[in-house]
Amino acid sequence: MESLSVTRVKDMINQMTLDEKINYLGGTGFVEGEKIGETQHLPHLNIPSVKMTDATSGSKLTEDHILFPAFICLAATFNPELSADYGQAVAEQCKADGYRILLGPGVNMYRVPHCGRNFEYLGEDPFLACKMLVPYIKSVQKSGVIATVKHFVANNSEHYRKNSNSVITERTLHEIYFPAFKAAIQDAGVKAVMTSYNLLNGEWVGQSKHLITEILRNEWGFDGMVMTDWWSIYDTEKAITSGLDLEMPDACILNHKRINALLDKGIISEELIDQRLINIFKPLCEMNLLDEKHSDPLLRNNWPEHERIAIETARQGIVLLKNQDNILPINPETTKTIALIGKNAIMTAASGGGAGGFDPGERLVTYLDAMNTIASKKAIKVTYYETLDNDIEQADIAVIFLTMIEHEFMDRPFTLSEAQYELIRQTSSLNANTIVVMSVGSGVEMASWINEVKGLIYSWFPGTYGAQALAEILFGEINPSGKLPFTIEHTEEETHYYGNYLPENTELPREFQGWNRGAPNFDIHYREGFFTGYRWYDLNNIKPLFPFGFGLSYSTFKLENLTLSSDVIIDNETLTVSCELTNTSHIDGTEIVQLYIQDIISSESQPQKKLKGFQRIMLKALESKHIEMTIHKKDLSFWSEISRSWQVENGFFNVLIGTSAADIFLEDRFMYYQSKK
Ligand code: BGC
Repeated sequence: MESLSVTRVKDMINQMTLDEKINYLGGTGFVEGEKIGETQHLPHLNIPSVKMTDATSGSKLTEDHILFPAFICLAATFNPELSADYGQAVAEQCKADGYRILLGPGVNMYRVPHCGRNFEYLGEDPFLACKMLVPYIKSVQKSGVIATVKHFVANNSEHYRKNSNSVITERTLHEIYFPAFKAAIQDAGVKAVMTSYNLLNGEWVGQSKHLITEILRNEWGFDGMVMTDWWSIYDTEKAITSGLDLEMPDACILNHKRINALLDKGIISEELIDQRLINIFKPLCEMNLLDEKHSDPLLRNNWPEHERIAIETARQGIVLLKNQDNILPINPETTKTIALIGKNAIMTAASGGGAGGFDPGERLVTYLDAMNTIASKKAIKVTYYETLDNDIEQADIAVIFLTMIEHEFMDRPFTLSEAQYELIRQTSSLNANTIVVMSVGSGVEMASWINEVKGLIYSWFPGTYGAQALAEILFGEINPSGKLPFTIEHTEEETHYYGNYLPENTELPREFQGWNRGAPNFDIHYREGFFTGYRWYDLNNIKPLFPFGFGLSYSTFKLENLTLSSDVIIDNETLTVSCELTNTSHIDGTEIVQLYIQDIISSESQPQKKLKGFQRIMLKALESKHIEMTIHKKDLSFWSEISRSWQVENGFFNVLIGTSAADIFLEDRFMYYQSKK
């Protein structure tokens, strides 16, 4: 039976002229800094325009907005409940000023550290991405804002993204690049999808019938609106027949002249246009956007709560990577002076750039502000040095703040700049107690200098308030608990993407070069297939610089007593995996226990392990907790190239429990089989 919203929507469409219908296929345009996009307004039918705003970590068009720590920092918390809070806060930021379509979340998988938008996404592992994404979307939409999952699909690098053709096998798409989008649709009920700029296997995604109709709609059951990324389609017939509904920010390709020509020739029918409108109106109707007032300025009363969530995200997402000689937390007994070095201490980059880039305005808490606030309470003197100075030698600790320009429509080098290398070299030769704080969204070359510094922290792009959390961690008021949502390599040569990314000798810029640049189309061959991230390191038996899921704490932990509820599971039975985690230190702390599954015997090639569970466990000093995680049949599946479907094969599987993809402490085996009828 047809839902009430569909009946109402059809009724509305019946009252529209053909011209009005065609007009509705495009947004009302883009005005730099003022308007990102909105749907058309039809006053005589009481259909208001619906305003859109970027992006995943806040609402940049909302006046006096708060910017949350980058989405990748949220991924590093491994905390789905926090993701729900973050999503609700972002939605309220949108709704306060009447933005009821959020152009986020972004969920393209991390494939190369160069990608200028990794900071807007959730890292390299599809399971982690899905677990973090679903509560975010549910919260956004529960708060009355339509979430737009983007950029569908295979837009994993930004270098001339409007000319790149991602060449990817079907299995790799299903196992690595599709799952987050599928979960957004099937598990979170997302109401909008934005297509990407790139080609996938030779076809522009925004006008691909295979991807939009066959995969999104028919295979995954999506019945909401599909919009383009801004100016990203080229062929009217292909686009309108692909299943795409809305061209953004305006109708260049789906304009009157072109659509009428197709109607006149009988290539498309008015019903096809009606279907496009049903897909757009239905979510608007379901979210009450055709009836209620769009803005709710009183939501500003929740700004203090949003500030709390923003700081909490940074507290839980900042990752401690190195802590030689327990240089951290800073000991007020032995530390009287701290030297801060690097411009990012005072001109803290709150976010990367592009659609996900925000100006945090005057409310921005810089790293220097945050360090001063805590240090002053402990009678520690913090001094910022604009240039290297011999006084740095006298300081008890030196902290270098580094960032890199990461920006939409640009990929950056993996290496730091010469000036940054020099800064690390000179500071660490002046001061043996040097700590580096990295504000980036991706991996950076650190192997060549990591031995020169005692401490290393990934503090991501912290948003308006996240710098406070970094200072709290340095001074030990907060015990770090974030984990890397991607692997960091020693060198590019050891990775899955080496030789599989850009044509050899491509120079990547360190600064954003502008939007109006084009290039001949080029292929990016994902030759590594599904062996991306930790799957690649396992396959090749390489120890990366820092593995996926890695992050230190000021506490120490022990994992023991793994038990499985059964050694055989049949058909749809589940398996309960339990173990015990103990905080073996005298400091309260949080560990993220990770469960990986290894398929031991398979008819097709398999990664050595896949993340299939995790839990964030807070433990008091010396406390122990019993942990349980559940394995379902689908956690044992792979996408078979032979049957072209998801398969679970009979046989043995290992359960691996650890604290990163490379730190596995417990292992046990069970068997799965399907009973014969
Ligand atoms: C980006 C999208 C963004 C849109 C609107 C595009 O350049 O790729 O992520 O939502 O602009 O700003």
